[in-house]
Amino acid sequence: MRKPLIAGNWKMNNTKLDAELFMVDFKPLVRTHKKTEIVLCVPYTCLEKVKKLCKGTKIKVGAQNVSWADKGAFTGEISADMLKELGAEYVIIGHSERRQYFGETDVTVNKRTVQALDNSLKPIVCVGETGDERAADRTEAVLKTQLAGAFEGFSEEALREVVIAYEPIWAIGTGQTATPEQANATIKFIRKTLAKMFTRPTANKVRILYGGSMNGGNVAELMDMSDIDGGLVGGASLKPEEFASMATYNA
Ligand code: 13P
Repeated sequence: MRKPLIAGNWKMNNTKLDAELFMVDFKPLVRTHKKTEIVLCVPYTCLEKVKKLCKGTKIKVGAQNVSWADKGAFTGEISADMLKELGAEYVIIGHSERRQYFGETDVTVNKRTVQALDNSLKPIVCVGETGDERAADRTEAVLKTQLAGAFEGFSEEALREVVIAYEPIWAIGTGQTATPEQANATIKFIRKTLAKMFTRPTANKVRILYGGSMNGGNVAELMDMSDIDGGLVGGASLKPEEFASMATYNA
């Protein structure tokens, strides 16, 4: 079945020194845990360091963006080759903060995801509605558009390599978590949409994470739900003890 995945998104937090201090506390707490795949999506500057510090563990590292191009005149972007050289295995694509502040669109999300897969990086593609969209009962329409755009032209095989993170924007960094029932129902809808776009067996293979104010106190009830395969964790992933307790919620 789908292996649970708990991924931390450090966003623009932690210098190399902060990362080292984090790992000193975090590593021993998750060292023997095998039931969950654990990923740390860290700033580019910490990637190499964190990868080295993960040696001898099953913890994987990821980045928070990747260019759609191999190389060239793309000031401020980073290529898949560069990320792989630093040890990244995963990459977050289309986070709502990138959509909101940096002009990310469904089209660029599609191009970046294709590039990640072509270079054997595992994409964690983020989708989610705003509070206004949910209030206006537009959640399903918004998600449908985001999924159709992100995975346009994808084969079944390609889609099976993708991880999706459902992150309702109103729940990010607000302390207002979606209820487990709400999150599960929306993730079920995402899976149903994928089944229509591709096939049911493929949709059943794709891991879909929940993200948005997930923490040590609510991880278990969210992870208990039928369709929630993991979490993409922001704030709580900066706290080694709390994030370790989340990553080992099924210990
Ligand atoms: P918080 O866990 O801080 O709400 O952030 C969620 C998120 O955006 C993860 O990508």
